[in-house]
Amino acid sequence: MEVENKVIIVKLSNFVSSLSLILHLFLFTLAKCDSSFSPNVNYLIDCGSSHPTQLKDGRIFKSDRETTSLLSTTEDLHISLNSNLSPSIPSLSLPLYQTARVFQEESTYSFYISKSGRLWIRLYFFPLPDPSFNLTSAVFSVQTNHHVLLHEFSAWNNDTPVFKEYLVNVSDSIFSLEFKPKKNSFAFINAIEVVSAPDTLISDSATALSPLGEFKGLLNSALEVSYRINVGGPVITPDNDTLSRTWETDGSYNIFPQGSVNVSVSNKSIKYPRTGILTPLIAPNSVYASAVHMKDARVMEPNFNLSWVVNVESGYSYLIRIHFCDIVSKSLNRLYFNVYINGIEGVSSLDLSLQTKALATAFYKDFVLNAFSITSGSILVQVGPANLQHGMTDAIANGIEVMKMSNNADSLDGFFSVDGKYKGPSSPTKAIKIFACVGIALAVTTMLLLAMICIRWKKRPQDWETHNRFSSWLLPFHSARMVSSKSSFRSSNAFSSHKSNKHGHGVSQKGRERFFPFSEMLQATNNFDEKKVIGIGGFGKVYLGTLEDGTKVAIKRGSGSSEQGINEFRTELEMLSKLRHRHLVSLMGFCDENSEMVLVYEYMANGPFRSHLYGSNLPLLSWEKRLEICIGAARGLHYLHTGAAQSITHRDVKTTNILLDENYVAKVSDFGLSKAVPEKAQVSTAVKGSLGYLDPEYYRTQQLTQKSDIYSFGVVLIEVLCARPVICPTLPREEINLADWAMAQHRRRVLNEVIDPRIIKSISPQSLNVFVQIAERCLSDSGVDRPSVGDVLWHLEYALRLQDDATRIKELDEKIESIVTNECNDNDNVAGHSGDPASDVSNSTDANSALFSQIANFQGR
Ligand SMILES: *[C@@H]1O[C@H](CO)[C@@H](O)[C@H](O)[C@H]1NC(C)=O
Ligand SMILES: *[C@@H]1O[C@H](CO)[C@@H](O)[C@H](O)[C@H]1NC(C)=O
Ligand SMILES: *[C@@H]1O[C@H](CO)[C@@H](O)[C@H](O)[C@H]1NC(C)=O
Ligand SMILES: *[C@@H]1O[C@H](CO)[C@@H](O)[C@H](O)[C@H]1NC(C)=O
Ligand SMILES: *[C@@H]1O[C@H](CO)[C@@H](O)[C@H](O)[C@H]1NC(C)=O
Ligand SMILES: *[C@@H]1O[C@H](CO)[C@@H](O)[C@H](O)[C@H]1NC(C)=O
Ligand SMILES: *[C@@H]1O[C@H](CO)[C@@H](O)[C@H](O)[C@H]1NC(C)=O
Repeated sequence: MEVENKVIIVKLSNFVSSLSLILHLFLFTLAKCDSSFSPNVNYLIDCGSSHPTQLKDGRIFKSDRETTSLLSTTEDLHISLNSNLSPSIPSLSLPLYQTARVFQEESTYSFYISKSGRLWIRLYFFPLPDPSFNLTSAVFSVQTNHHVLLHEFSAWNNDTPVFKEYLVNVSDSIFSLEFKPKKNSFAFINAIEVVSAPDTLISDSATALSPLGEFKGLLNSALEVSYRINVGGPVITPDNDTLSRTWETDGSYNIFPQGSVNVSVSNKSIKYPRTGILTPLIAPNSVYASAVHMKDARVMEPNFNLSWVVNVESGYSYLIRIHFCDIVSKSLNRLYFNVYINGIEGVSSLDLSLQTKALATAFYKDFVLNAFSITSGSILVQVGPANLQHGMTDAIANGIEVMKMSNNADSLDGFFSVDGKYKGPSSPTKAIKIFACVGIALAVTTMLLLAMICIRWKKRPQDWETHNRFSSWLLPFHSARMVSSKSSFRSSNAFSSHKSNKHGHGVSQKGRERFFPFSEMLQATNNFDEKKVIGIGGFGKVYLGTLEDGTKVAIKRGSGSSEQGINEFRTELEMLSKLRHRHLVSLMGFCDENSEMVLVYEYMANGPFRSHLYGSNLPLLSWEKRLEICIGAARGLHYLHTGAAQSITHRDVKTTNILLDENYVAKVSDFGLSKAVPEKAQVSTAVKGSLGYLDPEYYRTQQLTQKSDIYSFGVVLIEVLCARPVICPTLPREEINLADWAMAQHRRRVLNEVIDPRIIKSISPQSLNVFVQIAERCLSDSGVDRPSVGDVLWHLEYALRLQDDATRIKELDEKIESIVTNECNDNDNVAGHSGDPASDVSNSTDANSALFSQIANFQGR
C-alpha cells in the first residue's frame, strides 16, 4: 500500500507546485494508512479556488493553480468565481461551495489511474451569484470515458447546493471527466473528487427481484448514489466514515413511524464477520449500531410492515443494499422477518443468526430492482415479521442504500450515450425484436395484406357528407374568439402581399402552399353548399371540398372579418407555412380574393379525436390505439416546442384540435392562437385558450410559457383515460372539472371510478401507472414542476410498451398453458401453472423453459 502511495505522490508532484503541500499531503496520506483503507487514486480539487482548502475531516482539496495540468480546455479564459465578491450569499456548510470554475467551451479533466477498479466521482455544484455569469442558467452535460453522468444538467435552485456521487468501474489508465456546455450556454463546477473505492465495496452479483434469481454484471454498470440512509440513527458525516460517505437519517422516508422504534447500542459493540468482505468499509459501525424495529408488535393486530419509501427516476434499474444487524434479540435464532421491495418478497424468513452466527454482527444484502418493476417513481422497502409459530414478532433494518444503475446508453441521466447517440426505449430492444420477428412477423404480413385490401375497398367513393359529425372541426368554438363586426379584410398584411396573384391560375406559391383562385374554391365546394359543411366554428364554416384532380380537402372560410379573425387567420397561415411535420395538419393553400379568407387543408378523414372518445356512435378505441394517438399528438407538440426554427407554443391543445387521418394518425391542428415563445422563456400576453384546458398558472400570472401547453396536454390525457367532457356543468360541483376531479380521485386511490368503464379491464396496471404518473406531473400547479414534452413522449411510449408487453405475456401465458396441458396430460399438477409464470420457472419442464426464459428476458430489462 505505502509503496503505491509514493508512486502516486511522484505523479502528483508533476503538477503540485508547492513543495510544502507535497509534504503536507504525504503526511496526510501516511496518517490515513492507519485506518483500514487508503485510496490508490486520490484527486481532490476545489475548483476556482486560489489556495488549497482543508476540510474538517482533514482532507485537502487542491487549488486551480495546482491542478492546471489535469485540465485541457480550448479556451484562454479561465474564470474563477468567488463568493467573497458578493456579500448576499447564504452561509454554506462546506467551504468547497464558495468558489466555482466556469467553462464556456468543452473542457476535460484527465486523471492518471494507477490501478483499475471502482472510483468514487463526487461532484459539487452551487450556483454562486456573480455579476457576469448567471450560474442558475447554465445547462451542461458531464461525462466520463464511457458513461454519461449528467445530461443537460442545470443547478436552477440558487439556494441549494447539488451534490452528486457516482461509483464508476474504470480500467483505462487515463480517466477523463468532460464538461460539455449546451449550445450558447456554459458549464461550471465547484469541486471534484476522484478517489478509488475498495474492490470489495460492490460485488458483481446481487439478488434480482423480478423474476427472483441471481443478478450478475454489477461491475459493468456505473452507479449513482441516490440515497444512503442510517436507519434509526444520527447523520454520519464524511469525517466519521472511512470512505468519506454521508449517511442521512431515515425520519423523512419512514412512512409508518407510529409503528417504529429507534434502537441503538454502543458503536464498539458491533462485530464484523471474521472472514469475507464485510468490513467497516462496507458501512461504519455506527450504521449497524442503530436500527428501527417494530413497536410492540404483539399488541398491534394484524401485524404490519416497517416501510420506507424513496423517490427515484423511472426508466432505470436500481441497486438496493439493506444493512442488518441484530441488536434487539436476547439470544440467537429468535428473529425471523421478511424483506419486501416494491411489494416483491426479496427474502423470506431472514434469520440473521444463521447468517452471522452471533448477535450484534453486521450483515447486508444487495437487491436489483429492474426498471419495469418501478412504475410509480418510487421504491418501497419493507420489513415485516415472518409468520412462524416460534420466535418473536419483530423486524429490523439498520441501513438502506439506493443506487441508480446506468442504462442501455451507459448513461445515468437521459438516453444519450457518450457519443451523443440516442439509445432510448422507442427503438425496440433486441430480445423484443427477435420475439416480435419470430412470433408475429408472419401474422403481421398476412394482416397487412388483408388491411391493404380493406383500405382499398373502403376508399371507394362514399357519401361522406351524410355523417355530419364534426361539431367543431378545425374551427373550435371559443366565445372569446367569436367574430361579429365586419372590417376590411384587405387591410391584412399577410394577405395583401398576394394581391398580385389573384388573377393567376392557382400556381403562385407562398412557401410550399398553393394560391387557389376563388372560382376553384366555389367549384370544389359546390358554391359553398351547406350540405358540404363538416364543421362550424367561431368565425366560419369548414367545408369538404374536392379539387379538380379529385383530391379531398378541408376548406375553412372566414364568414366575417374582425381584427381578431384576421389576426388568427394570419397567424395560422404564417405558422403553418413554416411548419411541416407528420403530426401537424398541413396547409395546402389559401385564397384571398374578393374579400374572402379561405384556407385549404389536407382532409382528415377520421375527424377530431374527441368524437372517437365520447358523444358519438363511432367504434370504441382500444387503450393501445388511444396511447398511439396521444403519442402522435405529443410528437407534433414536441416538434412545435423544439423542432421548428422558433419554439412555438400552441396555446389551444385539446382533443378537438387533434385530428385523425384515415389511418388514425394524429395531427395537431388550429394554430390561430399559436405564438413563438422561446424555450424556457416567459411572455406576457392576454390569456387565451379553451375552458377546462387552460393552465391555471398562466391564467393567474398572464405569463405564457411552453409549460401551458403541457398542462393542456395533461387534461387531454385525462380526457382520453376517462372519456368524458373536460367541463360538465350538470355534474355535482366537485366533478365539473374533469382534471381536478380525476386527480382528486387519484389521491383518494379510487381513480378506477372515473376511468372509461368500457376499456378499464383491458388496461395493464403498469401501463396505467406510468400514464397517470405523467398526466399528474403535466397537471402540476406550477409550470416548473411539469415535464417537458419530450419527457411526456417518453412516458407515453413506455406506457404503450408496458401495455404491449402485458398483452404479449398474456398471449404467452395462454400458449404455455396449452403446451403444459399437452405435455402433462397425465400429470395432475397442471393447475399450478396458471398463476404467475415467473414463480414457476424452477419447476417447468425443458419443453417450456425456453418460453419462460423469454418472459424472464422481458421482465429483466
Ligand atoms: C470492472 O472491474 C473489474 C475488476 O475490477 C474488471 O474485471 C471488469 O472488466 C471491469 N469492467 C468494466 C466494464 O470496466
Ligand atoms: C438567472 O437565470 C435564471 C434562469 O434562467 C433566472 O430565473 C434568473 O432570474 C436569472 N438571474 C439573474 C440575476 O439574472
Ligand atoms: C467522529 O468524527 C469526529 C471528528 O473527526 C471525531 O472526533 C469523533 O471521535 C468521531 N466519532 C467516532 C465515534 O468515531
Ligand atoms: C429515529 O431517529 C432518527 C434520527 O434521530 C429520527 O430522524 C427518526 O425520526 C427517529 N424515528 C423514530 C420512529 O423515532
Ligand atoms: C457512534 O458513532 C457516531 C459517529 O461515528 C456518533 O455520532 C455516535 O454518537 C456514536 N454512538 C455511540 C453510542 O457511541
Ligand atoms: C408486508 O408487505 C408485503 C408486501 O407489500 C405484503 O404482501 C404483506 O402482506 C405485508 N405484511 C403485513 C403484515 O402487512
Ligand atoms: C416443484 O414442485 C413440487 C411438487 O410438484 C414441489 O414439491 C416442489 O417444492 C417444487 N419446487 C419448487 C422449487 O418450487
